[in-house]
Amino acid sequence: MATTGKARAGESVADSASGAPATVLVIHGPNLNLLGQREPEVYGRTRLDDIDRSLKRLGRELGLKVETFQSNSEGAIVDRIQQARGRARVLVINPAAYTHTSVAIRDAITACALPTVEVHLSNVYAREPFRHHSTIAGIVVGRIMGFGAEGYLLALRAAKGLIEAERAAAAPEARRPV
Ligand code: DQA
Repeated sequence: MATTGKARAGESVADSASGAPATVLVIHGPNLNLLGQREPEVYGRTRLDDIDRSLKRLGRELGLKVETFQSNSEGAIVDRIQQARGRARVLVINPAAYTHTSVAIRDAITACALPTVEVHLSNVYAREPFRHHSTIAGIVVGRIMGFGAEGYLLALRAAKGLIEAERAAAAPEARRPV
């Protein structure tokens, strides 16, 4: 059967090397462990556990393996990104307050050459000016913000699109002239 490089619904987006489902790593930064209790008028009432459960469920539907990680510590986030080097295909990250300050997280993403989707629950541009700057905005593939917990699910769908596009670009059929 000819393949177009595009997986059908429910078909796993296999890792090209092992044939196992491709891994998407989702990282949540500081204070996001308090989601549901923390400023619910800004961040919503959904708890982090519920977000992670929904991500894993959607991952199964999309044929992806989803790994999730939360830390309040910048160094632990850098370590987790480094561990994903060569293992995860896409990074989805909400660096939370580190978005506005962390050169270390930006450098880790660049060093690991991980295609990245940046997520924020709130629309940071509708908030204080110090939240308008993101150290990673210039190195990510795209940014999703203002949709609350749903933003993570949108990011996972975007991650699947990136993996499929990479797979299509690598498939010989995709290089053949039409
Ligand atoms: C946030 C926005 C950041 O400014 C803030 O420090 C957060 C959460 C968001 O998801 O809207 O902790 O990243």
